[in-house]
Amino acid sequence: MPKPAKHVFVCVQSRPPGHPRGSCGEKGCADVYNTFLNEFQSRNLWGRFSLTNTGCLGPCNLGPSVLVYPEGVMYAGVKPADVAALIEEHLLLNQPVERLRAPAAVWG
Ligand code: FES
Repeated sequence: MPKPAKHVFVCVQSRPPGHPRGSCGEKGCADVYNTFLNEFQSRNLWGRFSLTNTGCLGPCNLGPSVLVYPEGVMYAGVKPADVAALIEEHLLLNQPVERLRAPAAVWG
């Protein structure tokens, strides 16, 4: 299996209502992950890039959280409408999407 050029991790963690940490689940992460899945399929990105749904990545209160390696860029508050930019700019052009980056105080 060839090593992917980039690996996208999408937090799909849920917690019970009222939990003090909240979660990406209550902020719509499932729609973000499903949008990534659809885009990977329609753009035929499998093999060049990897996509994994994952548990908590850390900055729950700023979710949905998306982490891209090998750069280790954390994105916060990602919406389904942001997924195309993440793919076109970060994955395909190697230019992280600055407007979606988690604050340095959270991930720096
Ligand atoms: S629940 Fe998604 S980052 Fe913690």
